[in-house]
Amino acid sequence: MSRGGDGPPGSRFPHPLPAGWFMIAHSDGVAPGEVRPERIFDREWALFRTESGRVALIDAFCPHLGAHLGHGGRVEGEMLECPFHGWRFETSGTCSAIPYAKRKPSGGEVRVCEIVEHGGRVWAWFASDERAPSFAVPTIAEEIDAAWEELERRDWKIHSCLQELSENGADSAHFRFVHDMPEIPEMNPRFEGPHVVSRIETAFPTRPGEKVPVQIDVTSLGMGCDVMRYSGGIELLEVVSKTPIDAETVRVDVSFRMPRSSSQAQEEVLRDLAEWLIWQFSKDIPIWENKLYRETPALCDGDGPITEFRRWCRQFYPD
Ligand code: FES
Ligand SMILES: [Fe+2]
Repeated sequence: MSRGGDGPPGSRFPHPLPAGWFMIAHSDGVAPGEVRPERIFDREWALFRTESGRVALIDAFCPHLGAHLGHGGRVEGEMLECPFHGWRFETSGTCSAIPYAKRKPSGGEVRVCEIVEHGGRVWAWFASDERAPSFAVPTIAEEIDAAWEELERRDWKIHSCLQELSENGADSAHFRFVHDMPEIPEMNPRFEGPHVVSRIETAFPTRPGEKVPVQIDVTSLGMGCDVMRYSGGIELLEVVSKTPIDAETVRVDVSFRMPRSSSQAQEEVLRDLAEWLIWQFSKDIPIWENKLYRETPALCDGDGPITEFRRWCRQFYPD
């Protein structure tokens, strides 16, 4: 939907889908033998897990007569069987069995995304220009460390584009006006290839009328994943994963982990804090969903590193 922004006619944003690793599911959200349709990366897919546990994301439409493999497809061992005429596909997308044919026809393959499962997350590499993975899949140490446990999870479908959501982290001034920070935080992000690393010093409410100083170490791993490590008065991990559904819609998953050694009193504080952070995140949503994109914004000297952030984003777009 065009709203008179700086995108091409008919589109709300000028950005194509960026390349990157994007979380397509939590591991515990795809059981062995499960098949389901997925609409992400502006196309239809079938997501399935084989009986031995491998996850695949394959082009939804069967190369035979076009049935949607995610609607009624069945896992048979290590393959996905089409619900229409029983052709079977491996996780590589190769059709390796047609129950009623002597020879396989040419063109019997379906597109697949490269998948890596790590730390309880299923990541898919997607690039509309078909480039091979150009950086490492996000790995989050606390998610494979038994000393940490999950505290809270939430997800949203947000009507905006990925770059707009990610730009929030570089927009230091909005933290005061949207997120109740008393001061505009100082930000000196380091843009390091596909990563951005920054540190914010602030204070968070832990009890009514009580705040503790907190240091937030933020790492963006491509445009699809931000990791926030809170330390100081509290210890908390927040992972925000952002997956484009299409050029104007993003699926966002926010999850929190805490040290397993946290006392009950500490857990209560962290639980309240996670809820507060979720509430703060939700305050951005109506702004994202109703704003337009300014290609050449009128920035002032108190704004954060928005220009640098946009330059960093360019590496993820097709030439
Ligand atoms: S449409 Fe899939 S096997 Fe015929
Ligand atoms: Fe925000």
